[in-house]
Amino acid sequence: MKRITRVALITSGGDCQGLNAAIRGVGKALLNRIDDIEIFGMQDGYRGLIDRDYKFMESRDFSGIITHGGTILGTSRQNYIPGKDIVDDNGESLIPAMMDTYNRLNLDCLVIMGGNGTQKSAKLLMDAGMNVVTLPKTIDNDIWGTDVTFGFQSAVDIATNVIDYIHSTASSHGRTFLVELMGRDAGWLTLYAGVGSGADVILLPEIPYDIDKIVEYLEERRESGRKFSILAVSEGARSKNDGVFDEEAARKKKESSKYPTISYELADIIEKKTGQETRVTIPGHYQRGGPPCPYDRVLATHFGAAAADLIVKKDYGKMVAMQNGNIVPIPLAEAAEKTKFLPTDHPLIQVGRDIGISFGD
Ligand code: F6P
Repeated sequence: MKRITRVALITSGGDCQGLNAAIRGVGKALLNRIDDIEIFGMQDGYRGLIDRDYKFMESRDFSGIITHGGTILGTSRQNYIPGKDIVDDNGESLIPAMMDTYNRLNLDCLVIMGGNGTQKSAKLLMDAGMNVVTLPKTIDNDIWGTDVTFGFQSAVDIATNVIDYIHSTASSHGRTFLVELMGRDAGWLTLYAGVGSGADVILLPEIPYDIDKIVEYLEERRESGRKFSILAVSEGARSKNDGVFDEEAARKKKESSKYPTISYELADIIEKKTGQETRVTIPGHYQRGGPPCPYDRVLATHFGAAAADLIVKKDYGKMVAMQNGNIVPIPLAEAAEKTKFLPTDHPLIQVGRDIGISFGD
């Protein structure tokens, strides 16, 4: 008797645009390419695998979703102990429960769509003996080994649009505006949206700022007749005085700050030092919502079909990536090893400098 191939789909971590397009891409390609196939959708990320909460997915589940934001499967975040374990609130490992579901369903492979943290935890599942294929999704674009992640371009479009809109009101009132963008500790989203919207100052986690340089730049702009200024500020932006980046120290600093976010701190200092009326806008999760842009639909579909191809070939333990314009599988172990921060010699940073953008350094 011919053996049925059983695959489970999981979307994990923060959502982003393009997840449904990717689910659709994997699902349709698997159904078209493998005769005896059963596809399961795990509910709410790894939680579904832990609690054996899943649904059987049929052809119609994959139709009509390419334009939809979010994920039809739901998602969640889990406690991850770097390189070691995925645990519950009491510190107990959740990997045995996941292994149990994997074995009971007699799965051949998990297709895990996730960001940086999810790639790292997927590697733990692989090390525990499960077959996994992963797809890189996140608005942060910080996954090692791929030039781009799906979700990123849609978020760039939204963030650019937010700054475009702020331009007109900033100009009418002659104000200084800080628009704080997501991206965690990587500046990709802020750099692209900042350049794309004509921001005057771009503050990135990778280039620690000097507040005096920012103030000097803003005052010069005003003196030269430009009455308003826009700063695109990464949520992870840090000052030169914060010293070498350390995630734990950054978290502690945030917790002890009297300001809700970095932009409010900067706005307060800028207003006091320049006397310019200063405002903060934070689009927040709006950047992750709504339909994927066409680029992300195409990318997610391509990534999804490539994941199905790996399953057809039984080539597991891989993350689908884009490298130099080509869609390629790379070892998950490689992708999970590091975070792809923005290189400070990235050509777009130099372009920004060439056209007079200040990076606050
Ligand atoms: O990783 C994606 C991301 O949107 C980051 O840019 C942001 O810092 C974080 O998730 C927000 O997390 P949450 O959705 O849990 O508030």
